[in-house]
Amino acid sequence: MKSIVRLCGLGLMLLMFSAVGSGVLADSGEDKQKAVLVTGASSGIGRKIAEVLAEQGYFVYAGARKQKDLDALNEIDNVQSIRLDVTIQEQIDAAVEIVNEGGRGLYGLVNNAGIFIGGPLADVDLQEFQWLMDVNVYGVYRVTQAFAPMIIDAQGRIVTIGSISGTLSGRFSGQYSMSKHAIEAYTDSLAAEMAPLNVHVSVIEPGNYDSAIADTALARLHANNDGYAKEGSPFAEDFARWIDRPWDRSQYKKPDEVAEAAVHALFADEPLRRYMVVPNKEEAGWTIGKQIEELVQLNQWQAYSFSREELIAMLDKAMAGKH
Ligand SMILES: NC(=O)c1ccc[n+]([C@@H]2O[C@H](COP(=O)([O-])OP(=O)(O)OC[C@H]3O[C@@H](n4cnc5c(N)ncnc54)[C@H](OP(=O)(O)O)[C@@H]3O)[C@@H](O)[C@H]2O)c1
Repeated sequence: MKSIVRLCGLGLMLLMFSAVGSGVLADSGEDKQKAVLVTGASSGIGRKIAEVLAEQGYFVYAGARKQKDLDALNEIDNVQSIRLDVTIQEQIDAAVEIVNEGGRGLYGLVNNAGIFIGGPLADVDLQEFQWLMDVNVYGVYRVTQAFAPMIIDAQGRIVTIGSISGTLSGRFSGQYSMSKHAIEAYTDSLAAEMAPLNVHVSVIEPGNYDSAIADTALARLHANNDGYAKEGSPFAEDFARWIDRPWDRSQYKKPDEVAEAAVHALFADEPLRRYMVVPNKEEAGWTIGKQIEELVQLNQWQAYSFSREELIAMLDKAMAGKH
């Protein structure tokens, strides 16, 4: 079961950060109400982030695609929904106009919209992979480019929802892991470019939380006739077993702590570059363990390997630094 959950591959910071008191208060007299755009706010993590920000008095532009979701989001105080499919440039351009017309500027962007597909890398059609990358990677790229001038103007914050799959990769979740690994590199480069402009960039890396992501993935899989393994594929049997598992994510925690991390990244005086937010120590162990394994792999079989003592000195230095 453990490995099944891990292969599902969707994804704590200790809850030492408290949103209130850690940053700029949304309704304090000295600040106008700060505005944040959250993509993919119809369900799961994005919806929770939108709710928490709105509750705390920030103004939320909540991206969604379906009319019923747009209407539901508009029911929340401090929320204005915007039709926003992150794969459609015209909708992104229209969203920029709407936010401009709002007159609040844009302080924060939360790139949350994302999808999951899983299947053998040797079998899954390129178009399916492109669909995934179009949302999880190009979507982030497009939306951030479009809103960058406003965020720079506000000296604001950019936060992307990555995943512990930005570190972990397992059987039949390679496409998703590839997309989330891309977000790690994206965050580091963007952060380096934006730092001189006083824009802070973070990535949040959730573990497994309750959301609609697995339902959407399963529906897509069925629509493809469960066809992610090609006929005669040596992976077909194994993949059939992989599909035949509980997809119901209600066993997992609601993503409240992911939203807390987003608030910290957006408004704390000293935001972090990375927030790993997992529901238990086991998931933290998978992720940190994999990072250490990679470190050991990089250090072996090369001319300039570091000794154990040198590695520990590096670790001590990193732990003493600010990130
Ligand atoms: N839940 C987890 O355990 C977990 C773990 C690690 C990372 N994550 C990441 O968290 C983020 C949110 O996922 P979730 O788990 O909350 O899943 P979710 O409930 O399925 O939410 C995904 C959101 O993305 C939206 N979306 C999908 N395609 C889109 C597109 N082309 N343009 C704009 N929006 C689009 C969905 O909108 P529609 O309703 O219109 O489809 C929905 O609002 C994703 O980036 C995911 O990879 C989740």
